[in-house]
Amino acid sequence: MDYFNYKDNELYAEEIKVRDLVEQYGSPLYVYSKATLERHLRAFEDALVSKKHLVCYAVKANSSLAILNIIANFGCGFDVVSKGELMRVLAAGGSASKVIYSGVGKREDEIEFALQQKIKCLNIESESELYKVSEVAKRLGVVAPVAIRVNPNVDAKTHPSISTGLKKNKFGIAFEDSLRLYQIIKDDPNLEATGIDCHIGSQMTSGGPIIEATDKLIELYHQLEGIGVKVDHIDIGGGLGVTYNDETPPSPYEYLAAVLERLKDIDVSVYCEPGRAMVANAGILLTKVLYLKSNSERNFCIVDGSMSDLIRPALYGSWMNIVPAIKRGADDALEGSDSNGNKLYDVVGPICESDDFLGKDRNLNVREGDVLAVRGAGAYGSTMSSNYNSRPLCAEILVEGDKAFVIRDRQREEDLWENERIITKIEEQFS
Ligand code: LLP
Repeated sequence: MDYFNYKDNELYAEEIKVRDLVEQYGSPLYVYSKATLERHLRAFEDALVSKKHLVCYAVKANSSLAILNIIANFGCGFDVVSKGELMRVLAAGGSASKVIYSGVGKREDEIEFALQQKIKCLNIESESELYKVSEVAKRLGVVAPVAIRVNPNVDAKTHPSISTGLKKNKFGIAFEDSLRLYQIIKDDPNLEATGIDCHIGSQMTSGGPIIEATDKLIELYHQLEGIGVKVDHIDIGGGLGVTYNDETPPSPYEYLAAVLERLKDIDVSVYCEPGRAMVANAGILLTKVLYLKSNSERNFCIVDGSMSDLIRPALYGSWMNIVPAIKRGADDALEGSDSNGNKLYDVVGPICESDDFLGKDRNLNVREGDVLAVRGAGAYGSTMSSNYNSRPLCAEILVEGDKAFVIRDRQREEDLWENERIITKIEEQFS
């Protein structure tokens, strides 16, 4: 459930008409609903209330400072995968003591920064990384808290591009190697094993795979007891899916209840790393219809939003719901529309790539100048946007009731080349 609803055929973000937001702030425009985000935060916290836990929001899903600040104020932790993400969390008011650090290729300076900030835990993804962390910890004179990110070889049954828990994926350390690495950690005074971690994939729409993975982590937990290693947390990663179209993922409560049931007799905190389930449906991308054109085969609805603003459809073929800001009736339809007033459109952007689309084969009753909303755009939307075709990044707005706050200014064209140099000018500098 979210707080983007129609009233009298007009789409609202909480209590504000989305058309008014475009009027005021331009388009394309990301709009987030604070109430929706808080609802999701509460859902995860409530689901885990019966056990010690830490919800570590996966910053990569949406790293806007304002969003991170709301999450930090709610008391949640964070899962980061770069120094940049960690610095964002700190800039947003989060505490490193509630941050875990994942990622298959952490640089030495990133490890150093994380340890200096007294990060909660580093999730280790290779034997070489383990030695690197030990070396850095020794140099800094600290003991590094670590967990092995176990690759349990469990099929998350999701899109292959976002599946991470199989042996063919680059992520984590094979289950069968994990015990040996925990022995190495145990024998190393610069390291302390504080947890067991896994993350098997994203947009999972059933609870089965995470249960299978949890069972593997529990098996490892008992093996660790056998070698005298007692970890304080088990981290089941992120991955809970959302409804973009007709998917029916379990609720956070259903998803986590099954995990808690498995862990009920084990004295550990449960960590999880939700990204998408927290923010996807808390955000929409608003875009304006620039032109409608047709040929003998297709109708194109050309909008001012593109794959540079929202790459998921182009990159993964993801289906995202596109709805009009005002619902027009069948009596207010263009010539050639069906009995419901719709025409079948490919909703495409201005970028010079055939794959620049936001949706294909969509039934819409729209006019040039209308506003469309891409729903479920709060996760992996703005964070994956780019400046391709020298397009400035969108402005971003957070709505709270009847108030709208600009949480990111629209980039200006001049900002795009701020850090660039024309070579002749460099020569001038040295002459
Ligand atoms: N933890 C780790 C270590 C991760 O790699 C990820 C996501 C998460 C947590 C959060 O997963 P979530 O709860 O959001 O499913 N760009 C793709 C999704 C990539 C996910 C990468 N890792 C998309 O737009 O679908």
